[in-house]
Amino acid sequence: MQKKINEVVILGTGGTIAGQASAAGDNVGYMAGQITAADLLREVPALAGQALSVEQVAQCDSKDMDHAIWQTLAQRVAHHVARPEVSGIVITHGTDTLEETAWFLQRVLAPIKPVVLTAAMRPATALHRDGPQNLLDAVAVARSSEPQLAGVLAVVAGTIHSAQAVSKRHPYRVDAFSSGDTGVLGWVEEGAVRLARPGLLADETAPLGLAFIERPVADWPWVAVVTSHAGADASSVRALVGAGVRGIVVAGSGNGTVHRQLQTALHEAQIAGVRVWRCSRCGEGAVVGQPAGALASAGALSPVKARIALMLALMAQN
Ligand code: SIN
Repeated sequence: MQKKINEVVILGTGGTIAGQASAAGDNVGYMAGQITAADLLREVPALAGQALSVEQVAQCDSKDMDHAIWQTLAQRVAHHVARPEVSGIVITHGTDTLEETAWFLQRVLAPIKPVVLTAAMRPATALHRDGPQNLLDAVAVARSSEPQLAGVLAVVAGTIHSAQAVSKRHPYRVDAFSSGDTGVLGWVEEGAVRLARPGLLADETAPLGLAFIERPVADWPWVAVVTSHAGADASSVRALVGAGVRGIVVAGSGNGTVHRQLQTALHEAQIAGVRVWRCSRCGEGAVVGQPAGALASAGALSPVKARIALMLALMAQN
């Protein structure tokens, strides 16, 4: 059989893009992850006849995304990226943890082809649904041979984001994603990609590789996120340490500052052998500087992406 050239592989994982409500006007009271990626594809006539293949990797609400799905997803992405006839991958995903899956895949695989996560804020049953256009745009980006678009990306509401910069910033609006200070990589307009900064290369961080995440997910180091806030106390950190946490990311106020009660508990945790990183809960920008005695900074990473980075750093140790 002749191999398909310029094939795009669509990997389904669920989310609102695959969600269904009992009433067409209901954009909130629906169940995520109800229809398959193959069903979604049938909703986009413009994709009919294109070189596409579909695989259902999971079917979940992405608030419930877990390490076992990440492990399988990374293996399927690596498998398809290695196939010469494949130009790129599209992953249909829920919006809630899309940025975490994107960052995990980028750190593990740093793929040499576009691996495009896409999603929707409205279910497949909505009067005015965003999923079909997002899927169409994601396939256009997955077909791109533009070097800047090699790697893990997110395509939503006509915008293209890098895995490192993207985050969900609005709980309801259709254009819910932002790349903050960094800005988008580009836009998709009627199937054509327009780059925001022609000439720049995407994230060049070396991949960790699939062998790195081969161990059973039950053995992946437990890393938790705690938030510093007015009135914070030491109890949550002490409970985590007592329960055997291996790493803690503290989402600090402002420039990564930490309430003194929490700070004391986090220093105790470090003495007990727990790795502690701090980042900012502000949502944009990076923690600037490393004052003497301060907890280690996670730089520009958001708390949830710092959690992934710390988990992978701990995995590298043993
Ligand atoms: C989910 O993240 O799976 C549900 C929410 C969404 O996709 O918008």
